[in-house]
Amino acid sequence: MATTFAKAAEGSTREQSHAARIEHVSKSFSGPAGSQLVLDDISLDVAPGEFVTILGASGCGKSTLLNLVAGLDKPSAGSMETPGGRPALMFQEHALFPWLTAGKNIELALRLRGVAKAERRPEAERLLELVRLGGSYGKRVHELSGGMRQRVALARALAQDSRLLLMDEPFAALDAITRDVLHGELTRIWEETGLSVLFVTHNVREAVRLAQRVVLLSSRPGRVAKEWTVDIPQPRRIEDADVAELSLEITEHLRGEIRRHGQH
Ligand SMILES: Nc1ncnc2c1ncn2[C@@H]1O[C@H](COP(=O)(O)OP(=O)(O)OP(=O)(O)O)[C@@H](O)[C@H]1O
Ligand SMILES: [Mg+2]
Repeated sequence: MATTFAKAAEGSTREQSHAARIEHVSKSFSGPAGSQLVLDDISLDVAPGEFVTILGASGCGKSTLLNLVAGLDKPSAGSMETPGGRPALMFQEHALFPWLTAGKNIELALRLRGVAKAERRPEAERLLELVRLGGSYGKRVHELSGGMRQRVALARALAQDSRLLLMDEPFAALDAITRDVLHGELTRIWEETGLSVLFVTHNVREAVRLAQRVVLLSSRPGRVAKEWTVDIPQPRRIEDADVAELSLEITEHLRGEIRRHGQH
C-alpha cells in the first residue's frame, strides 16, 4: 500500500503542473429579478503545494467559486480542472455528525474512501494526533469546544487524502486566540503534508498570515481585482509588522472595491 502511495505521489508531481485550474469561469444564478451574474471571467491556477487565499467582501462570490472548484455546482461558462481528483472541503460550520464520536466522524470519511476496516481506527488516531487532538477519539461532538470541532473537521477533511484542500472561512466563528492557534496548526500541517490549499476569507490579516498568494475578488460581479505574492517567511504571526503592513495595503484595495460597488 505504501508503495502504491509513493508511486501515485511521484506520478502526480511529474504530470501535474497545477492542483486546480480555473479558466474563464463565469457563474450566473437566475432568480425572480432575472439572471444575476455572480462570477465574471475568473482565471486562476493553484500550483501543487501552493497556499492561495481568495479574499473579498461578503457576497462577492467566494463560496460560489469554491463550490465550483469542489464540483458541487457547474459554471455557466468556462472550465474547472482538479487533476488530482476530488478536492477535500472544509466549511465555516464543522458539519460533523453529532451522534458520532470525533474518531467515528473521521472513520466515516476513511470508509467512504475505501480504507479497510482494520486500518480505519489507527488512521483516525493518527489524524487526530496531527491536529493535536490525540486522546479525543471517543469524545462526542457536544463535548468539544468550537476550536476542537474545527480540528476534527480538519482531520476529517485530511482523511479524504486529497492533494487539494478547499477551505471556506473555516475559522470565522472562532475567537481570535483560538483562530491564531489554528492558523499555526494549519501552516504546520500544510508544510508537513505538501497539500495545495485554496482558502476563502473576508479577513485580510488572515489571508496574509496564511497564504503564499492572496487573490482579491471584486464584488458584483466577482472578478480577480488584484493579486499579491506574500514573501514573508513562515511561521508568521498575525501581529507581525510585515503582515500588518501588507494587510494595510490590501485593505485599501478591498475598501476601494467595496466603495465602487456601494456596499459597506
Ligand atoms: N444557489 C444560489 N442561488 C441564487 N443565488 C445565489 C446562490 N448561491 C449564491 N448566490 C448569490 O451569489 C452571490 C454570492 O454569494 P456567495 O455565497 O458566493 O458569496 P460569499 O463571497 O461567499 O459571501 P460571504 O463572505 O458572506 O460568505 C450572493 O449574491 C448570493 O445571494
Ligand atoms: Mg461565503
